[in-house]
Amino acid sequence: MILSREKLEKLAIGRKMDASQVMSGFAMEEGGVKLDSMDDLRALSDRLILPMDQVLEAVDSDLDDGVKVCRKAEGFVRTSERNGNRYYTYQHLATSKAAPELMALRVTVHCNSDDQVVLNGGHGSKEIVYITKGPIRMDWQALGQLRQVDLREGDSVFLSPNVSHSFRALGSQDAELLAFNY
Ligand SMILES: [Fe+2]
Repeated sequence: MILSREKLEKLAIGRKMDASQVMSGFAMEEGGVKLDSMDDLRALSDRLILPMDQVLEAVDSDLDDGVKVCRKAEGFVRTSERNGNRYYTYQHLATSKAAPELMALRVTVHCNSDDQVVLNGGHGSKEIVYITKGPIRMDWQALGQLRQVDLREGDSVFLSPNVSHSFRALGSQDAELLAFNY
């Protein structure tokens, strides 16, 4: 692992220290401090007089001054199938290791007929859905009851954990929603 000069400087400033002095004696690579072992990490944490987890957090952070930008084409994309039919395409929006409990997705809904609907069995996270391209029919199951509601662009839904649900496009075109799981 490499702790960049930039990140080291921020840690050093926070400790009222000089980054060059903090770095001296450490192996360098790509302008940052090279940390090859727990001993290296411990030595740097001793030098900074900071707990190791705070140093590790700086090394491992995917944020830039507290922010992560995810460009349109950068997010992880996966298309799922249910019963052999293309169902959803998930595109990850900006998500960060700083908040692993939050998953923000742009979902293209390919399923467009009632007889292809397969409920997902629910998941442990809560979910907020916002319809960006409708109309969409949502099926869900709670307390053994099958329920259904039609949603238009701009509508939003909150789903409790473990509520089985599914979305289908009501038109012949793909529909789209944003889903925030947390
Ligand atoms: Fe979901």
